Amino acid sequence: MKIGVLISGRGSNLAALIEACAEPGFRGQIALVISNRPKAEGLQVAAAAGIPTLVVDHQDFASRETFDAELDRALRAAGVELICNAGFMRILSDGFVEKWRDRQLNIHPSLLPAFKGLHVHQRALDAGVRITGCTVHFVRPEMDEGPIVAQAAVPVLSGDTPETLAARVLEAEHKLYPLALKLVVEGRARVVGEQVALLEADGTEAAPLFVPAI
Ligand code: GAR
Repeated sequence: MKIGVLISGRGSNLAALIEACAEPGFRGQIALVISNRPKAEGLQVAAAAGIPTLVVDHQDFASRETFDAELDRALRAAGVELICNAGFMRILSDGFVEKWRDRQLNIHPSLLPAFKGLHVHQRALDAGVRITGCTVHFVRPEMDEGPIVAQAAVPVLSGDTPETLAARVLEAEHKLYPLALKLVVEGRARVVGEQVALLEADGTEAAPLFVPAI
């Protein structure tokens, strides 16, 4: 399955996906990495792995729709069948999201549906939660909503700052996203209604994928 990865910055989740795709027998291949920011460090991560990159700078477009149309064109031209948002910090138009319905994944650094949006770690600390984590889900027009493929739990420790908590969650993200992507490329994570049904390799129903505290 040809995968397109959308990034805006550092690209550490992209690096984890590149590593996963390099595993023998992995049934996905990253065909294109697109950044909406010309200076995203993730562009170098992709280039170092020999993966084609493209900058589609949102500032060059008059509207969200024209920006999204260019993303769509580039992804289709590269033969992409599945999109992975990996630290992509632009809201996509409903039209784009619907075109890629059930073919676009996102990773979010909280246990959704808690803490959608920005400043998630500060908000988790402010709320006093003892456990947070990360979620991989199929994308829907509403921000940080959509059928959940997998989640990982991460403890909040006393003395945590948004930075220390973000670093601990990020480690979990790097394990979770490859796991979730593997399920999707193998056809073992299917959207049924608005939930994800997980199947074992032999086609029988699997338990929800929950990665315990890391
Ligand atoms: C990650 O923590 C990812 O979950 C988050 O941005 C970071 C990107 O890091 N994404 C969002 O907040 C999207 N709502 P990376 O560029 O090193 O992968």
